Amino acid sequence: MKIGVTGATGQLGRLVVELLKQKVAIGNIVALVRTPEKASDMGVKVRTFDYSKPESLVASLQGIEKLLLISSNEIGQRLPQHKAVIEAAKQAGVKHIVYTSILHADSSPLGLAQEHLGTELAIKASGLVYTILRNGWYTENYTGSAKGAIGAGAFIGNAGDGKIASAARVDYAEAAAVVLAGEGHENKTYELAGDEAYTLTELAVEISRQTGKTIPYNNLTETQYVDILKSFGLPAGVAKMLADSDTGASKGGLFDDTKKISALIGRPTTPLAKVLADALAQ
Ligand SMILES: NC(=O)c1ccc[n+]([C@@H]2O[C@H](COP(=O)([O-])OP(=O)(O)OC[C@H]3O[C@@H](n4cnc5c(N)ncnc54)[C@H](OP(=O)(O)O)[C@@H]3O)[C@@H](O)[C@H]2O)c1
Repeated sequence: MKIGVTGATGQLGRLVVELLKQKVAIGNIVALVRTPEKASDMGVKVRTFDYSKPESLVASLQGIEKLLLISSNEIGQRLPQHKAVIEAAKQAGVKHIVYTSILHADSSPLGLAQEHLGTELAIKASGLVYTILRNGWYTENYTGSAKGAIGAGAFIGNAGDGKIASAARVDYAEAAAVVLAGEGHENKTYELAGDEAYTLTELAVEISRQTGKTIPYNNLTETQYVDILKSFGLPAGVAKMLADSDTGASKGGLFDDTKKISALIGRPTTPLAKVLADALAQ
């Protein structure tokens, strides 16, 4: 059975393809990518696939039976882009679509959830067999700021005491590979989060423990955090999205204790301490 992976040159997509290679025949994997040159090292078939070019999508999906639609990173453009892929999948005869959504998409306080929920509804309306992977936060979203926090002397955010049940990107990638390579996931929606949950205060304690420096967590208001992120050079839209996500986290939007990833992948999710140590070693 041919399996297509969109966004295969992205960070998650590359991991999914690598893990799929261990589970299915390499000849059955097709990387669907916006820039084929970026995929020349992947060792699988590559086809051009740009969510913003609907006219080319059906041809690129010929023969694909299972499709992983990795959500686009073009926030604000995602719903029309994803709808174009869903429509093309239907026309091309794809049997089963797997989509990377967001944790608790139908009740999430995060603004990011809107495009994901719209995509989920479009998938269900299409009549295609589906599996929705409601991915929680990548631990790397926070550990990527650890070095900056050490330089500044504090970790900042506005997530308050919200518990964050994140997992490493590779954990979500493995869950996707298990679903793509296996059976029994038809028309299911999985809430996917890490085994371990922590507050940003607890993250700062772990950074302090690993570095031997005292790095406190300074909780800001959403407005203060937006302003600081903008002063670092982040575009206003990205700064607002990050602060809105922290506000959502403060309301429990990134917490889930069902441990579905570890159930799917048959091992615990990667501990925060390990993802942090890797980030600090880079
Ligand atoms: N759960 C979380 O914490 C979290 C965090 C960040 C993002 N996300 C979501 O999860 C997705 C995957 O995460 P990631 O870490 O792999 O992100 P990433 O490294 O930014 O990869 C995004 C992928 O989407 C592709 N893409 C963007 N626009 C496209 C278009 N018009 N047509 C075709 N492909 C397009 C990119 O292609 P190129 O390689 O050509 O650029 C890239 O391969 C993100 O896109 C975002 O929706 C989730």
